[in-house]
Amino acid sequence: MKAIHIPTYTPDPSTLQPSNIPTPTPQADEFLIRITHCSPQHADILHAQGKHQNNNAKKGWCFPPFTLGYDFAGVVHSLPTSGAEGVAGGLRKGDRVLGAAIGAFAEYICVKRSAIRKVPAGLSNETACAMVGQAVSYASVVRIAKVQPGETVMVSGASGGLGGVCCMVAKACRARVVALVGDEGKAAQMRGSLGVDAVVVMRGGGGGEWMGEVMEFTGGKGVDVVLDNTGMVDDALRCLAYFGRIVILGFAARKGVMEEVKMNKLLLKSATVVGYRFGESGRRFPHELEEIWEGYLGMMQEGRLKPLLYGRYDGLEDVGRALGDLAARKVYGKIVVRVADEEETAKL
Ligand SMILES: NC(=O)c1ccc[n+]([C@@H]2O[C@H](COP(=O)([O-])OP(=O)(O)OC[C@H]3O[C@@H](n4cnc5c(N)ncnc54)[C@H](OP(=O)(O)O)[C@@H]3O)[C@@H](O)[C@H]2O)c1
Repeated sequence: MKAIHIPTYTPDPSTLQPSNIPTPTPQADEFLIRITHCSPQHADILHAQGKHQNNNAKKGWCFPPFTLGYDFAGVVHSLPTSGAEGVAGGLRKGDRVLGAAIGAFAEYICVKRSAIRKVPAGLSNETACAMVGQAVSYASVVRIAKVQPGETVMVSGASGGLGGVCCMVAKACRARVVALVGDEGKAAQMRGSLGVDAVVVMRGGGGGEWMGEVMEFTGGKGVDVVLDNTGMVDDALRCLAYFGRIVILGFAARKGVMEEVKMNKLLLKSATVVGYRFGESGRRFPHELEEIWEGYLGMMQEGRLKPLLYGRYDGLEDVGRALGDLAARKVYGKIVVRVADEEETAKL
């Protein structure tokens, strides 16, 4: 099969091209999935470069040679051969699935049941692939921040995968949404396509004039909720209303250097600051994870969440270009690479 194979780490993932490697053989408890779409993200760049925490020589598990990629959608090509209860988990050959597992930039992938979910009727594999990585955004808005109708929600990194869906879910919860973006070009694109109430360009970076725009938007009161994808708690506190809530989701803008925040700022505004680690929460509380996926996929099926797709990428040959565009911060929304048609034309 064709795959983006990493025999050694590479400093510039935009040069990556597919090569031919053996199609993986599933274990008794694994499905073989024929991949139809994959969605490159920043973590893939880090994995290719060997800079992700998963590549850490002592604590990591992802070392060359490996196949790159994480988020995918596809079709069940073969079922697990183990007859043990729950191994196939109600899935059948030919079912369309969305999933996340290392090795997604390939024509086929072997996965356990826990890595995949059935794509609900009415959703395309392209949509499922674009949205598979952002259940965290849904959960952060609905379950962690518990956003209420009429509240004002500010989202940092709103042009990113998580940020865009945070905005959409907050709108679906009937909040007023302020999207923060890095430059005017992206802002112009997003004003038309994201459906938010205000798009604010973070001119001057941290502590910049843009905060005045946010405060003006809220009539001087400040925002009720901040969903922070970039690492800007100090700025978030300055824009926050009394008794406001900040959810820390990521540190995309911190370049590995964490900020230090004076605790009196929390007290002065009676602020709540909470972190949310989606993967670990799901492992510890699997029942809640199921509820989250049900709610998230339900919103998608009802048409209340629609993926914001960036550009056109066709075939594994386009994965390198996609990673280059991500690294250059050109992208708003999600890239989806079409790998194959949903109809079976398998070579196996
Ligand atoms: N909490 C969790 O469980 C969880 C789960 C998954 C991911 N995450 C983390 O959440 C964060 C967002 O993930 P994502 O997938 O949405 O990332 P993404 O698609 O790369 O988006 C991040 C956004 O941050 C903005 N940004 C500002 N400064 C940046 C910089 N120096 N480099 C890159 N981007 C910068 C960019 O928008 P502008 O260019 O418009 O500023 C970009 O669109 C990441 O830190 C990720 O590791 C957390």
